[in-house]
Amino acid sequence: MERLAATVLFICLFSFLLNCGIIQIEASPGSVDSIPETQPYRTSYHFQPSHNWMNDPNGPMYYKGVYHLFYQHNPYAATFGDRIIWAHSVSYDLINWIHLNNAIEPSQPSDINSCWSGSVTILPGEKPVILYTGIDANKHQVQNLATPKNLSDPFLREWIKYPHNPIMRPPIGVELDNFRDPSTAWLGKDGKWRVVIGAQNGDEGKVILGQTEDFVNWTVDANPFYLSENTGVVECPDFYPVSIEGANGVDTSEENLNVRHVLKIGYLRIPHDFYFLGKYLSDQNSFMADTKFTGTSLDLRYDYGKFYASKTFFDYAKSRRILWGWVNESDTRQDDIDKGWAGLQSIPRQVWLDKSGKRLVQWPVEEVEELRKEQVSITGEKLVSKSLLEVSGITASQADVEVLFELPDIENAEGIDPTKVDPQILCSEEYAAQSGIIGPFGLSALASEDQTEQTAIFFRIYKAPNRYIGLMCSDQSRSSLRKDLDKTTYGSFFDVDPKTRTISLRSLIDHSIIESFGEGGRVCITSRVYPSLAIHENAHLYVFNNGSQSVTVSKLNAWSMGKADIGHQDTISCF
Ligand code: FRU
Repeated sequence: MERLAATVLFICLFSFLLNCGIIQIEASPGSVDSIPETQPYRTSYHFQPSHNWMNDPNGPMYYKGVYHLFYQHNPYAATFGDRIIWAHSVSYDLINWIHLNNAIEPSQPSDINSCWSGSVTILPGEKPVILYTGIDANKHQVQNLATPKNLSDPFLREWIKYPHNPIMRPPIGVELDNFRDPSTAWLGKDGKWRVVIGAQNGDEGKVILGQTEDFVNWTVDANPFYLSENTGVVECPDFYPVSIEGANGVDTSEENLNVRHVLKIGYLRIPHDFYFLGKYLSDQNSFMADTKFTGTSLDLRYDYGKFYASKTFFDYAKSRRILWGWVNESDTRQDDIDKGWAGLQSIPRQVWLDKSGKRLVQWPVEEVEELRKEQVSITGEKLVSKSLLEVSGITASQADVEVLFELPDIENAEGIDPTKVDPQILCSEEYAAQSGIIGPFGLSALASEDQTEQTAIFFRIYKAPNRYIGLMCSDQSRSSLRKDLDKTTYGSFFDVDPKTRTISLRSLIDHSIIESFGEGGRVCITSRVYPSLAIHENAHLYVFNNGSQSVTVSKLNAWSMGKADIGHQDTISCF
C-alpha cells in the first residue's frame, strides 16, 4: 500500500515538473521540438493548441506589455462540439505564446451549452471587459459579460462572470438561436458605448447595434445597422476606423475627418470574411458603405482562400491595428480525429487603408521576421518560357519568401473583360501548368522534386478595356497525391500599374499552410495543403514561368524559419 502511494506521488510530481517545464527531457526525433514524422502537417510558427479543436480568435488585446489571444476551443475532441470554451494564451511578441488555463467555461444558465465568440474592450482606467455569446439552457443565444478577477495580474488569468448574465437577449426581428459574436465596443460622442452583433431573421443577415453606458444595462436596436438579403446569419462582425493616410492604426473609438470606417462580416453559408469601407455617422447610428454586398467576385475579402471569423484590435504599444483569422483544415473530419487536432490561427497581420482608399492592405507583423534564419537570394534572373528554378539552401517546408517579378511589355497581354469572368473559376481553368502569354509565373511551394506535388501561387496579366489587370491564384489541384482533400483553387483580380511593371509576392510556408500576400498585401490568399511526398526535407521551393513571354526575378529573398515557442504551459496555472 505504501509502495503504491509512493509510486502515485512520484508519478504526480514527475508529470507536474515535466508539464510545467521545471524538468525537461532532451528533444529527440519525434519529440515536440522537431515535428514528428507522423505529424507532418503540424505547424512550426502558426498558433495552435497542443491538441483538439480550435476555431475563432476571440478578444485579442494588448494590455500592460502583454498580448492576449483567447480562442474558441473544444478541449474534449479534435472536432467542433457542444461545450465550446474560451481558451487563453499570452505573448510578449505575438509569435511565442504561453498557454494559460481556460478563461471562460460553461457554468451559468446563460452559457451552460457553450461559450461562443466575443471581444474585449479596454475601458478607461485600463479595465478590460469581455463580452461573449452564451448558448443558454434553452439553446438561445445571449450576450454575457466577464471581468478580470485581479487587474494587477499582467496575464489576467482569472475571469469573473457577471452574476446577472445575460446582459443582452435577441431583439424583435432576430431569431433566438442566431444572435452572436459581439464586437469590441467603441465610445460615441454622446458618452455611450456601442457594439455590433451578428444575427439572422429568415434568410436575412443582420448586424445589430447594442448601446450602453455601463456595460450592464444595454439597449438593443431592432433596426439593423447592416442588412443583407438571401445570405443567412452574419457571424463575427467587426467595426473599426482606419486612417486615411499611412499604415498606423487608430483606437476603435476614433471618429474624425482623418479616418474612414470598415465593417467586416462573415456569412456561415459563404464562409469568407467580406469587408466594406464607408462613412460612419455616429449621431445617426448609421454606416454608409461605399459598396453593397453582391455575392460576386466584386465583393472585397480580407483573404481569397481559407480565412474566417477574424477579429482586429488596436495595438497601442506600436500604434497599429492587428488582424487575426481562423484558418480551418481542408482534410476530412476523420483526418482531424486521426491527427488529434484541427484549426490554425493566421500569422497576425497589420491592416491599414491602401493609398487608393479603395481596399485594405495586410502584412504579417514585423515580429515574425525574428524567426528568419538562413537566407538565400536571387537577383536579376530571367525566366524564359517554361522555366523552373529551384530556390535551394533553405528549409522549404518552413520558410518565408519575398519575390519581385519584373514584367515584359504588358501591351502584349491577353484581353479580358473582368466583369464577365469569376477570377476563382478563371484560376482553375487557367491553372499553373497551362501556358499563357504573360504568366502563369510565380512560386511553386511544398513541391516534390518530381513536381507531382506542388502548390503554385501564381500570376497572369490581362488587358481589360481601359486598364491592366492581374490575376493572383493559389492552385491546390496538385498539392497532394492524397485523395479526399478540398483542393479548390482560389483567386482574385487586382489592378496592375502599367508604369511600375512589377508584381510582388510574399509567402509564409509552414508545413500545411501557405499564407500569400500579393502586391504588397493588397491581395491575400491562404491555403491549407497536405502533401504526402513534399514533407520535411523532401519539400522544395521553385520559381517558375509558364507564360510564352519571359519575366525576370528582379529580387528574391527566402529564409528558413525557426520554430516559435508555442507549447509553453504557464507555470502558475500548474498549481
Ligand atoms: C464562427 C462561429 C461564431 C460562433 C463560433 C462558435 O466560426 O460560428 O459565429 O460564435 O464560431 O464556435
